[in-house]
Amino acid sequence: MEVKTKTKKEELVEIRKKNFLPTAFLYYKNPLQLVKGKGSYVYDEKGTEYLDAIGGIVCNSVGHNHPEIQEALIKMIRNDEIQHTSTVYLNQHPADLVTKLISEAPDGINKCSFTNSGSEANELAFMAARHTTGETIVVNLRHGYHGGTSGTLSNCGHHTWRFKAQPVSSVTSALEPYCYRCPFNQKPESCHLECAKNVETTIQTSTHGKIAAFIAEPVMGIGGVITPRKEYFHEVTKIVHKYGGKYISDEVQSGAGRCGEDFLLTKSLKIDADIITMAKGFGNGAPIGAVLMKEDIANTLSGKLYFNTFGGDPYQAMQALKTMEIIEAEDLIKNTKLMGEYLRKGLEELMNEYKIIGDVRGRGLLIGIELVKDRNTKEHAIKECAELMELCKDRGLLIGKGGLSGNVIRLAPALSINKKQVDFMLNVFNESLKILSVNKS
Ligand SMILES: Cc1ncc(COP(=O)(O)O)c(C=O)c1O
Repeated sequence: MEVKTKTKKEELVEIRKKNFLPTAFLYYKNPLQLVKGKGSYVYDEKGTEYLDAIGGIVCNSVGHNHPEIQEALIKMIRNDEIQHTSTVYLNQHPADLVTKLISEAPDGINKCSFTNSGSEANELAFMAARHTTGETIVVNLRHGYHGGTSGTLSNCGHHTWRFKAQPVSSVTSALEPYCYRCPFNQKPESCHLECAKNVETTIQTSTHGKIAAFIAEPVMGIGGVITPRKEYFHEVTKIVHKYGGKYISDEVQSGAGRCGEDFLLTKSLKIDADIITMAKGFGNGAPIGAVLMKEDIANTLSGKLYFNTFGGDPYQAMQALKTMEIIEAEDLIKNTKLMGEYLRKGLEELMNEYKIIGDVRGRGLLIGIELVKDRNTKEHAIKECAELMELCKDRGLLIGKGGLSGNVIRLAPALSINKKQVDFMLNVFNESLKILSVNKS
């Protein structure tokens, strides 16, 4: 159904050009204006329906405008429930949320602070780790991404996101656990976890031998859904702790059940993390993040003040709690596992047919498809990746992209996606890849 919008799409583009910072980028040659969302679908102003397989950017957990969340929001507004309190006053919603969230955390992690975003969650994690250890150095991973603030960008493993002349002090980078493009030229089946051991070499060669923290995503989303093996994390946590650091597990993308195991992937992979950060799908689109940490770290922060004006406010907290309850009530983690496997299988079949697909990887419904011009040289298929996105959009499917070179298709549909919708995605990929191959030959 067409929606009457105040401003024409072309004018919106002009307004953006005129007044937005040039750092804001748009997907697609002919940018999309999205005006409605329901479940797995989004709609533009003309009423064109798209299956949303990227969810803004990895935020659509239980579906757009889930009726239970909608109802709860309407009820809160009708009851004149307070929009903003900040943590200087008591309120029911953040208390309910923290109780539920801690019940999903790995054993020993029982303290929490809410933020508005993933970047802020990581900033607080860095500050807590530095405060508790009295050390400054944070070890990050090349190809990692942890947010758009100054501190998180100094831990960013992508030149494209970093600003010029930005101070990058007190951090150092270890080599990426990127099996498809192993920096050690190893194969996963025969390697000796050289990437994990490199964290130790990095500490030994570029720090004074003690660190504040190590930060990593259990699945490296923006880096192109790089999916390290479980053993990698076990080896790295031992190293991090040996050198006095705190392990920060950035679950901004992988959390909230997206990987089809526990609510937090850190728990499923048995990562001995000291701090876990989350955002994105945690609020199903509402701006809320969280930092979870072990009690002994939290205790060392007493006497300090940390204030985040909107962090844990009632409406966001309610939406995050409802999201958690819906994930449980609708058994969405199980669905994520099943649909994730089904989608992966379908994509692997397409990989047999289309040589441009170099790798399919991920966990649950956080999936990456790496496109290459040649499977031997693994030359990045950058233009083709952008073309594939356009072809899919023209056929009613929205997907994302990432990777250092922008040659990895990223998929993160709602956890409630069904088989018919996955079949639709696979059909659209098949058709689009066929056109892409014809155009290339
Ligand atoms: C793994 C990871 N951490 C942190 C962030 C930053 O989150 P936000 O954009 O909410 O600040 C992102 C955003 O994409 C992310 O992917």
